[in-house]
This record gives sequence, structure tokens and C-alpha cells, in this order.
Amino acid sequence: MVEDRKKGGEEGKVMSWKKIAERGEVSVGRGKAFEIDGKQIAIFNQDGYHAIDDLCVHQDSSIAPGKLEGDIVECPLHFWHYNIKTGELVDYLKDVKLETYQVEVRDDGIYVDI
Ligand code: FES
Repeated sequence: MVEDRKKGGEEGKVMSWKKIAERGEVSVGRGKAFEIDGKQIAIFNQDGYHAIDDLCVHQDSSIAPGKLEGDIVECPLHFWHYNIKTGELVDYLKDVKLETYQVEVRDDGIYVDI
């Protein structure tokens, strides 16, 4: 696995860029789930790539296959909605946010900073 390490973010937290997908693996206007470091992360290809925890706070469904409209993905199980850029749940509960990750497209693939 390709990885570079650096310190950043919260004090002492080790951030590292890891390759999560090949370029072209996530179609435009769609999401796809990937596992990396024991986490399930959804990558969306909508207006650039976006990475977000792939775990609906309602009943732990994957949101990656959900319908996308603009920046909003709909959980396929019971239709809760999340902003793929901010991770925010936009209905039902206030102040609920899935973790988001920075994404970089490099020559050899798509990387996330986790
Ligand atoms: S599991 Fe996502 S809305 Fe129920």
C-alpha cells in the first residue's frame, strides 16, 4: 500500500494519505464504498471527488449506493439525506455529521487523508 505520513490536524494526530481507488473507478454522479484501515469510506464523484464515512447514523447502512442530487446523497434504506461535501445530515436530526476526508487525485489513483 502506498502511503506518506505527516503530522497535521489535531495535535499529535498522525494524518496519512492512502490510495483508496484507481482513477476512473467511481463513475461521475455516483458513489462507491471502499474499505481502508478498518473503515468503510464512500467516495463520491460529483463536482470533484468527496470522501465521507460510509455509515448512515440511522441504522448503519452504506450510503455509497444512494441516489445523488447535487451535493446531497439519499441513504438507500430509509432515505435520510447527507451533504457529501460537509458530511452533514440535512434532515431529521440537528448537528449530526459524518466524518469527511480530504481527497487528492494523483497520477496513479485517488488518495484520501485519513
Ligand atoms: S439506515 Fe440510513 S436512513 Fe435508515
